[in-house]
Amino acid sequence: MNNRKNKTVLITGGADGIGFGLATKFGKEGCKVMIVDINKEQADIAKSSLESLGVETMVHIGDVEEIKTSKLSIAKLIDSWGKIDILINNVGIAGIAGKIWEQPIEEMDRAYNINLRSTFLFCKYAIPYMLEEKYGRIINISSISGKEGNPGMVPYSSTKAAIIGLTKSLGKELATSGITVNCITPAVVETKLLSQITQEQVDYMVNKIPMGRTAKIEELAELVWWIASDECSFTTAATFDISGGRATY
Ligand SMILES: NC(=O)c1ccc[n+]([C@@H]2O[C@H](COP(=O)([O-])OP(=O)(O)OC[C@H]3O[C@@H](n4cnc5c(N)ncnc54)[C@H](O)[C@@H]3O)[C@@H](O)[C@H]2O)c1
Repeated sequence: MNNRKNKTVLITGGADGIGFGLATKFGKEGCKVMIVDINKEQADIAKSSLESLGVETMVHIGDVEEIKTSKLSIAKLIDSWGKIDILINNVGIAGIAGKIWEQPIEEMDRAYNINLRSTFLFCKYAIPYMLEEKYGRIINISSISGKEGNPGMVPYSSTKAAIIGLTKSLGKELATSGITVNCITPAVVETKLLSQITQEQVDYMVNKIPMGRTAKIEELAELVWWIASDECSFTTAATFDISGGRATY
């Protein structure tokens, strides 16, 4: 079911971690990949790695907190490739762990801007091009913390819950357009994101996973790859769990 050959995909936060794993999967399967990331050094490494696999790759360096990053990166992609088939809103930060009364207000603002508002912005600027094509696949990377809540992580958990709400609402808005909007809610994956929080916090989250292990990036990539397929055609506004059994609803 490789009907995604030559499709174009934009992945936010694609230079490292899960985003880079998704870029590798989609690239290997024949998609053209644009990575949007703040970390130029890591993005250059990612680009070289993808190009060594023969993947047509573009990079846009920018902070997704700034509106121009979404606007300009999408304009650049359309200029070069003419259409945006798949949008993966992957960028996210855990922020510092702490009780709400200890959290600096700026941490909430940062989580809101990077996790939630960037998802809104990339959807806002990409969808008009998808509507022209009557086709699109939008996949938002939420988190199990958005469903279950993690203590000490209110900015993260609440913005991840809001991504589920955004997905449900937007999926319905676009239901007859040929564009599907879905999200995934992974449990813990070992990436640099975990270095932002305490070991105690990581242990709490891992201990909650009935399968007793963390998720592999490749496992997420397989799920996202399927959601992005033409075969996944009657599912929109949905949340896909990938939590080793942690999700309780
Ligand atoms: N790692 C986990 O356990 C886990 C679990 C569930 C969900 N997620 C979600 O998966 C997504 C990816 O997480 P990850 O673990 O790969 O993180 P990561 O920290 O390994 O990678 C994040 C990437 O985003 C980039 N980035 C960060 N802030 C940015 C900004 N302001 N502008 C542009 N780029 C920026 C970083 O440079 C990096 O390349 C996030 O949305 C995260 O919430 C992660």
